[in-house]
Amino acid sequence: MHLDYSLGKYMPTPQKFFTQKSSFIFSTNMPFQAQNVPSPCFVMEENLLLRNLERLQYVRQSANCDLILALKGFALYHTFPLVKQYLSGATASSLNEARLIFEEMHCRAHTYAPAYLAHEFDQIMFYSSHITFNSLSQWERYAPRIRQYHRPISCGLRINPQYSEVQTDMYNPCIAGSRLGITRDQLGNTLPEGIEGLHFHTLCENDSHTLARTLEVVEQRFGDLLHQAKWLNMGGGHLITRQGYDADHLIALIQHLQSTYDLQIILEPGSAIAWQTGYLVAEVLDIIDSQGVQVAVLDVSFAAHMPDCLEMPYKPRIWGATDPQADRYTYRMGGMTCLAGDYIGDYAFEQPLQIGNRLVFDDMIHYTMVKTTTFNGVGLPAIGIWKKDDSFQLLRQFGFQSYKDRLG
Ligand SMILES: Cc1ncc(COP(=O)(O)O)c(C=O)c1O
Repeated sequence: MHLDYSLGKYMPTPQKFFTQKSSFIFSTNMPFQAQNVPSPCFVMEENLLLRNLERLQYVRQSANCDLILALKGFALYHTFPLVKQYLSGATASSLNEARLIFEEMHCRAHTYAPAYLAHEFDQIMFYSSHITFNSLSQWERYAPRIRQYHRPISCGLRINPQYSEVQTDMYNPCIAGSRLGITRDQLGNTLPEGIEGLHFHTLCENDSHTLARTLEVVEQRFGDLLHQAKWLNMGGGHLITRQGYDADHLIALIQHLQSTYDLQIILEPGSAIAWQTGYLVAEVLDIIDSQGVQVAVLDVSFAAHMPDCLEMPYKPRIWGATDPQADRYTYRMGGMTCLAGDYIGDYAFEQPLQIGNRLVFDDMIHYTMVKTTTFNGVGLPAIGIWKKDDSFQLLRQFGFQSYKDRLG
């Protein structure tokens, strides 16, 4: 195995990663050698990303649709040249994301945001091939600038079909009072002049059958407008790379839309691209007995590094750990901030945990790296790629400056 440490100017010597007490507690089925990376560290496995990209490319080519990466879910831009070989491009939800797509993927973004900033809009136009507006008033406000722009930009409206199977309100854009998208009663019988596309996003980690039921409602409510549009963007939430996802059913749904309405179909998943492609490596800093509960204090934070665990909430898998069992050693996992709720519990291990043990949180690439904060001044985890040739490439370690830059 070859370790490439060449990139980090703040890099400690490799020995720093192997503290005397650092040891890896799992001997079998390990995805990679967790003791050979710094801690904490996001590690993406290139092979796993490739597996996902191949599956997505199959859908894109078989259905003759556009499949673009939603940066909000996965923005490890070092992989963009690879992603670009398999997907059609990317979608941005802000000027920063649109610019990152332009600079690192060398294409223009499909951009959508709930509202645009007037002083950013020239740049939004520069970096975008498509712009979707969340309301008619946003469209009316920016339409004159689009019309005057020296290059055509394909514009769309986000619709709210008022149908979503997402159970968690936090992730459901169709709940009453949602600010996301235009309901049918707000639209007339013809698309506003200059509008070429419609966009809905109502899925979250769903399968093709949820999409089929959603499409029934979309067609019933917006079918007449679909006949007038050039494209339909069906948002994200299509977990095409989850085991068991029926890709051929999805392809059939897309083909139905294409033949019925003569539409270019666009899908913009985020999760599906980085689904199960990597890990967050952490180290046990302390073990304490809290009123009878064994707590492992880690060098990561759920609040700062894995906020979805607390927001959703969900309990991430740790390699080698199970739910509590009588013959195992059970620990609550505690984060390194002072937030009382910065913990996830409870996990059971075959052997008692030791200070210095490395733990590997599974599936920690999508919606984690993009959401990290330096709350409490905690450092951001390093970022690295476990390459196809079984070498580790450390891309970045973060220091004081990353913390300070956010504060003034
Ligand atoms: C408009 C839009 N498009 C695409 C996505 C990506 O969704 P996912 O990562 O679940 O595929 C989101 C996620 O919130 C979104 O809001």
